[in-house]
Amino acid sequence: MTAPRIEALDEIDSTNADARRRAEAGEVGPLWITATRQTAGRGRRGRNWETGQGNLAATLLFVTDRPPAEAAQISFVAALAVADLADAFVPASQVTLKWPNDPMIDGRKTSGILVESGQHAGGLWVAVGIGVNLSTPPEVSERPATAFAEHMTAPPPRPLEALAVLSEAFERWRRLWQTAGFPPVAEAWTRRAHGLGEACTARLGHETVAGIAEGLDPDGALRLRLPDGMLRRITAGDVFFGEA
Ligand code: BTN
Repeated sequence: MTAPRIEALDEIDSTNADARRRAEAGEVGPLWITATRQTAGRGRRGRNWETGQGNLAATLLFVTDRPPAEAAQISFVAALAVADLADAFVPASQVTLKWPNDPMIDGRKTSGILVESGQHAGGLWVAVGIGVNLSTPPEVSERPATAFAEHMTAPPPRPLEALAVLSEAFERWRRLWQTAGFPPVAEAWTRRAHGLGEACTARLGHETVAGIAEGLDPDGALRLRLPDGMLRRITAGDVFFGEA
């Protein structure tokens, strides 16, 4: 993949929605789309995503010939890149990753990642949407949230400055994933993992299951050991720690 171009907009509904429109119109990227304001930012599981002032909202659009299940591993690549971005500004010991891809600072969510994809003449288009709370945490949040600024004495980086660091880190992890596959990515993710070995509740679409989070399966699923000793693979959903 050649170095991605960066297109910086003042305002858009959602950088992920924009990436989708462009992909459907034939854009193959690699292209970062970033916007100062999103009027309809999207989160996982149909939620809204609020991009507070001074925060980063960006989507990397590219095309791949990998099968969809494998392409989805890019969300772990993205999480590691955000963790590197956070390390550049806050103490690395505070930066962790909550399954599947929530970067946290001091146990609170500081970033969200939304991967979307669709069929393309050249394979699959993939849009990796990343929101990072640099200056301001969200006003309304279901779970504890934070922003880089709350952990820094200097002013937080400006969004385009943060995107430059993020883009470089993303490219480093993506190259490792491309050449060595998922194992080293999963291993790096595990070193950063939030809550492994702890009580964990997984809220799935139709049920809630509780157990101990044991780690990642080779495909990125979360291994949850249930009270009866059975192992449950969690492939989608929200997980919460310390609540089982
Ligand atoms: C989550 O729910 O944690 C995922 C949030 C993803 C937000 C980012 S901001 C940039 C991109 N554009 C969107 O509309 N969503 C993603």
